[in-house]
Amino acid sequence: MQNRILIFDTTLRDGEQSPGASLNIHEKLEIARQLEKLRVDIIEAGFPVSSPTQFEAVKRIAGEVNLVIAALARAREIDIKTAFEAIRDASRKRIHTFASTSDYHILGKFSDTKYGRSLKEKRQTVVKMSREAVQYACSLCGDVEFSAEDAGRTPLDYLCEVIETAIEAGATTVNIPDTTGYTLPSEFAQKISHLKQQVKNIDRVTISVHCHNDLGLAVANSLAAIEAGARQVECTINGIGERAGNASLEEIVMVLQVRKDLMHFETGVDTREIYNTSKMVSGFTGIVVQPNKAIVGENAFAHESGIHQDGVLKKRETYEIMTPEAVGIPKTKIILGRHSGRHGLRARLSELGYRLNDDELNKIYSRFTELADKKKEVFDEDLRLLMGDEIYKQNTYYELKQLQVHSGTHTIPTATVEIGLKDQVIQESATGDGPVDAVFNAIDRVVKSDYSLEMYQVRSVTSGRQAMGEVVVKIRSSGHLYAGRGVSTDIIEASAKAYLQAINSGQMEKTAVSNPPEGERLSNIV
Ligand code: KIV
Ligand code: ZN
Repeated sequence: MQNRILIFDTTLRDGEQSPGASLNIHEKLEIARQLEKLRVDIIEAGFPVSSPTQFEAVKRIAGEVNLVIAALARAREIDIKTAFEAIRDASRKRIHTFASTSDYHILGKFSDTKYGRSLKEKRQTVVKMSREAVQYACSLCGDVEFSAEDAGRTPLDYLCEVIETAIEAGATTVNIPDTTGYTLPSEFAQKISHLKQQVKNIDRVTISVHCHNDLGLAVANSLAAIEAGARQVECTINGIGERAGNASLEEIVMVLQVRKDLMHFETGVDTREIYNTSKMVSGFTGIVVQPNKAIVGENAFAHESGIHQDGVLKKRETYEIMTPEAVGIPKTKIILGRHSGRHGLRARLSELGYRLNDDELNKIYSRFTELADKKKEVFDEDLRLLMGDEIYKQNTYYELKQLQVHSGTHTIPTATVEIGLKDQVIQESATGDGPVDAVFNAIDRVVKSDYSLEMYQVRSVTSGRQAMGEVVVKIRSSGHLYAGRGVSTDIIEASAKAYLQAINSGQMEKTAVSNPPEGERLSNIV
């Protein structure tokens, strides 16, 4: 039995669909390069037709990253054509097209009678659309993946018909997504076995699975599917993605490594890059990893109770089934300080997975020296924060120039901000319930915003009294959620930066929407 499992990473596509997780092009490129170091097999780089920035990001990744680069497309000519244009420069490319197959989706999305009057007719329209989409994709690209969206809730006979059609039309990979995270492991495994037995020529293609985590079963379902014959799994770093997220890459890979006694499969992943990749994705997306998250959570290898500590000190295996080093958690802390030079900084950042050009290095070096003056000891965590905070943020709109806050037990908190906007600097003051509220009110006056604050979170990331504070905010405007993240040893300044960054993301998206690419613009449709 062929035992190599292909890892299809969709952090940059499905993962980026996590509420408020939008990444800019530099950040996507940096993550894609890190995924190359992690040695995944395929990167789904984005959904090119959905916006010009998506298109551009996929194109850049296709031109620079040497892996199979996949681009998503609905079963429509314009989507497929745009996806192909975006990945054209990749040395290895894949078009990933999909159509909805469950009754829920068919009746919901194809309610118009132009798709047929009865469910039966609408289903036949989906079969036809799928065939035509795959045929068209195959006319452009030799590697075509077809997904039956909501396969988890699609009646088996009909699923077999659609998948058989996609194979006949030329698909090389057929993906069975549990789009709503509904199925149970045994049920999902049976689905895969049934397809393997019933679908003509299924042995000529790779069976893939794509599981969502609504019931917390995404990894279990993916593993059950592997045992039943799937040879590609679609997953994301830290399990980020729509709603409760996707199957977590690091969990699947480590299960296959740690339990190879029972699961005789292997991946090509270099597990020692898992920790750096997780940190980078969390830093750039602003999505904090829960401390007890398997493999990459802060507590995943921490032993708190005396009995456990004693056991681990005597013999590691007492309470550890894998070593922290196996997933790239460093044994010793590397500390930089005010005397560290550019060269040392660049070397350490490169070990953490970041590649910088000279301009970027100069920028980060000046932030680093400011921080080293305040903190004396600069840890890896601080560097990651600086990278996520500063280096790739495209502050094309508002930039915090200055901030003054007056607050205390018997005064009304008042803030004055100076914000740069192109070549002008705007100053505003406001009061608030507290210093952060006053700062946000002052910023609102500058940007004349209609944003509502949906989430404000502050945490200390490094330890000690001079620790860096990280603030993550989510704001809403016209139904869209935008996230921003700011770090500083001063949490009021971090709050101002995070708020402005979220506003900047909103501004960037508005500009992108007002300049759509040729053809239709389709955001939030997957
Ligand atoms: O969850 C899903 O069904 C998807 C498809 C587009 C593969 O993301
Ligand atoms: Zn999905």
